[in-house]
Amino acid sequence: MAMEIVPATAALGAEIRGLDLSKPLSDADVEALKEAWSDHIVLLFRGQKLTDDDLIRFSRLFGTLDIAPASATDYAGAQEKSRPEIWIISNVVENGKPIGALGDKEAEWHTDMSYVAEPPMASVLYSLEIPSKGGDTSFANMYKAYEALPADLKRAVEGRIVNHDSSTTSVGELRAGAGAVTDVRLAPGAKHPMVRTHPVTGGRALYLGRRLNAYVEGLELDESERLLDALWAHCAKPEFSWTHKWRVGDLLIWDNRAAIHRRDGFDGNERRVMHRTQIKGDRPR
Ligand code: OGA
Ligand code: MN
Repeated sequence: MAMEIVPATAALGAEIRGLDLSKPLSDADVEALKEAWSDHIVLLFRGQKLTDDDLIRFSRLFGTLDIAPASATDYAGAQEKSRPEIWIISNVVENGKPIGALGDKEAEWHTDMSYVAEPPMASVLYSLEIPSKGGDTSFANMYKAYEALPADLKRAVEGRIVNHDSSTTSVGELRAGAGAVTDVRLAPGAKHPMVRTHPVTGGRALYLGRRLNAYVEGLELDESERLLDALWAHCAKPEFSWTHKWRVGDLLIWDNRAAIHRRDGFDGNERRVMHRTQIKGDRPR
C-alpha cells in the first residue's frame, strides 16, 4: 500500500497512512516522510504496534537520540529501569511509586527541553495505554504565530533573548536536583533568541519555551512579564493549533523548532502510559 498524507488542520499536522513502523522503511518512504514533516510540523501514525526498540529505530531515521530529561525525584528510580533514550510519561503508580513523569495534570504550552543549549529538534511520542477521555495533546504552529504577530509585538521580539527555565516540568513540578526559582531573572536554564530560523525550511518561528519562570533578557521585570503574557496569549489562539485525541497505538513526531504543545489533564483513576524519544538538535539561531 502506498503512503498517503492526510492534512489534519489548516494550522499544522498530518496523518500518514499506509506505513507499518515496526518494519524497515524504504529510502523513498523516509524521504517522503521528511518532506511531509517539513510541510506539516507534526505527523501522526495510527494503529502501530511497536516495541521500545522499534520506537528507537524509527526515531533514529530522523537523527541521533538524546537521553531522557530529568523528572521529579520520585520517578527517577522508575526511569533508571527503562532505556536511557526513552522517557516514560504516565500517571500509573506501582509499589507506591509513579512509573513515569507528568502524572494526570494539565501540561501547559511548552517546547521540550529548550532549557538546554542544544535542545532536541524533535520528539516522538507513542501511546501504550490511554484514558477513556481527557489527556488530549495540542500543537501550535510557531511560524504562523510569528507571521501573525501585531507589528508592536513583532518589533518587541526582534533581536531579543529569553531565558528558558530548567527547574520545572511542564506540569509545574520541580525536577530532581533543582531549587525553586524565587527571582526569574536568576532562573537556571538556557538563553535563546525569541525568534529562530529553522535550519531546514528557513522559516522564522517564535521560540519561547514555556511561560513559567521565563525572563526576557535586558528588560525590566514588569516589562518582561507583560511582553511574555501578551506573546503567550497570542500563541494560544485556536487558529494556530491542532488537538490530537489519542488512541492506543498512535505515534506522533513533532518538530520542536516550529511547534509548541500542551496536554489536557485527565481522571487520575484511569491509566495513561506513553513512551517518548527525543532527537538531537542544534543551537537555536
Ligand atoms: C511530551 C509531552 C504530552 C502528553 O511528550 O513532551 O509534553 O500528551 N507530552 O503526554
Ligand atoms: Mn512536552
